[in-house]
Amino acid sequence: MDSVTLRKLYLNFFKERGHAVISGASLIPENDPTVLFTTAGMHPLVPYLSGEKHPQGKRLTDVQKCVRTGDIDEVGDATHCTFFEMLGNWSLGDYSKKEAISWSYEFLTQVLLIDPSRLAVSVFAGDETAPRDDEAASIWEKCGISKDRIFFLPRKNNWWGPAGQTGPCGTDTEMFIDTGKPKCSEDCSPACDCGKYIEIWNDVFMQYDKQADGSFRPLAQKNVDTGMGLERTLTILNGYKSVYETDLLRGAIGKLEELAGKKYGEDEEVTKAMRIIADHIRTATMLLGDQRGVTPSNVDQGYVLRRLIRRAVRFGRLIGLKEGALSEIAKLYIEQYKDIYPEIGENAEKIVSELDKEVERFSSVLQQGLKEFEKVVGYLPENVKRLSGKTAFKLYDTYGFPIEMTVELAKEIGYEVDVEGYKKAFEEHQQKSHAGAEQRFKGGLQDNTVEVTRLHTATHLMNAALRTIVDENIRQKGSNITAERLRFDFNLDRPLTQEEIRKIEEYVNGAIDAKVDVVCREMTVPEAKAMGAIGVFDSKYGEKVKVYSIGDYSTEICGGPHAANTGELGKFRIVKEQSSSAGVRRIKAVLENK
Ligand code: SER
Repeated sequence: MDSVTLRKLYLNFFKERGHAVISGASLIPENDPTVLFTTAGMHPLVPYLSGEKHPQGKRLTDVQKCVRTGDIDEVGDATHCTFFEMLGNWSLGDYSKKEAISWSYEFLTQVLLIDPSRLAVSVFAGDETAPRDDEAASIWEKCGISKDRIFFLPRKNNWWGPAGQTGPCGTDTEMFIDTGKPKCSEDCSPACDCGKYIEIWNDVFMQYDKQADGSFRPLAQKNVDTGMGLERTLTILNGYKSVYETDLLRGAIGKLEELAGKKYGEDEEVTKAMRIIADHIRTATMLLGDQRGVTPSNVDQGYVLRRLIRRAVRFGRLIGLKEGALSEIAKLYIEQYKDIYPEIGENAEKIVSELDKEVERFSSVLQQGLKEFEKVVGYLPENVKRLSGKTAFKLYDTYGFPIEMTVELAKEIGYEVDVEGYKKAFEEHQQKSHAGAEQRFKGGLQDNTVEVTRLHTATHLMNAALRTIVDENIRQKGSNITAERLRFDFNLDRPLTQEEIRKIEEYVNGAIDAKVDVVCREMTVPEAKAMGAIGVFDSKYGEKVKVYSIGDYSTEICGGPHAANTGELGKFRIVKEQSSSAGVRRIKAVLENK
């Protein structure tokens, strides 16, 4: 089975069971300051899992692009990818365990035709937060899963979420394919990573809202959140040995064989390098070509993108790839994905040119950097197997080696790196460290404090001001709001003048002084367009979106939430205007008490 068929089968199955097929969201979470990437299908749906009404109803299904870089070191094995697609279905306070589990069983056995004797499931064993899930176990049994293939596992295995530090979460039941390998021990179970069981689907019963203090409150509504990995499921269904044999990745592997003049599968190192390149360039293509695409930089998403590309360059060198090879791989992915994700086709030029630029930047110093690395290692006394923080910082600062790359290079020859020392050296030299990015990985999800809500509304006003005062072609390239400030990236190839900054502040403060109501309406995309709304038009035809209007000042498609009236905002002030990356400017602004 190929990816096109599996996506279709899944969406149709749930459509036939009353689910609305909704568009997946961007890989860059909108107005969510706490996480860098969309990591699960439920992630863009957090407001609705928390109780907000979804315009498409209570039963939803979609395919969501996801990026997870937590397991980046595992990439190169048979199953881990930094980019993947997640098939999902949701009940927003509608159906519950019985339907969710029965449909999962039906889809696996009747549609995907998996022999029930090859399935195993896990359910929550119970602890102080939630009881043992006997209900889920008994539903599985009724479906046809025998008792010895139902495993009760603890929180470590059968609790999902929240995606960040706070938000919707709950116990889950996971579905595994039993590969038929012998048990590795007496208590071999799906919790074990010996490879006997491979997870393909997860039904989460989201009933809790984790608070910042670590406690759990019941959610206003009981939800179901399920997620099935497209790549993994295709691998299993087709009996492949790894995800790289699926139609999603094998094209890139074939092209790499051709470009490197080497065979995949013959040599362990070459195979691993090809897998890493195929994975990383796919993720880079998706991030560069996203509807809210990013470009390589030293912070946040741009830093992760840079790391992925530079790692691909290094592994490309190991298998002898020539100049331009990586963009050949990107072009292949563009062709492969453009019908599924139109933004990839629309941004084709940008993807290739930004990738080429980053590859060129790094290729020119990689060789020297590797020499420097070898030189330093050579100087170290025999018994010292640790590189100093200063060395790691020099490799970063002079040769562009992301710290993770230095750690990896060191590990390959049995050395360590003083990462703490590196961080210190970094902080001494720079005001900004990508530690900020790591923090945000760990941070909580939604922040709907009054401050954030107000800054969100101020962002709309400022977006409108930029288009009215500076250039009507200005588009939002990124937005990040904390309780203290807003940060907004937009396209412009020059700094703003002092005069323009003053006028933008005047425009926004004018709208605040006018005490205008912020009105939210739900409508279809063509209706929103007809109203002159700005925003990302990536919804499917017929799907309803929310349009927030602020008098004549601004009309924008957005998920909200917003202040009710501009009079609540306070005084708007731009505190910084700077370059973000090539052709993109960044504004930081605050709301002060009047
Ligand atoms: N959120 C769950 C997961 O990521 C199910 O969709 O596995």
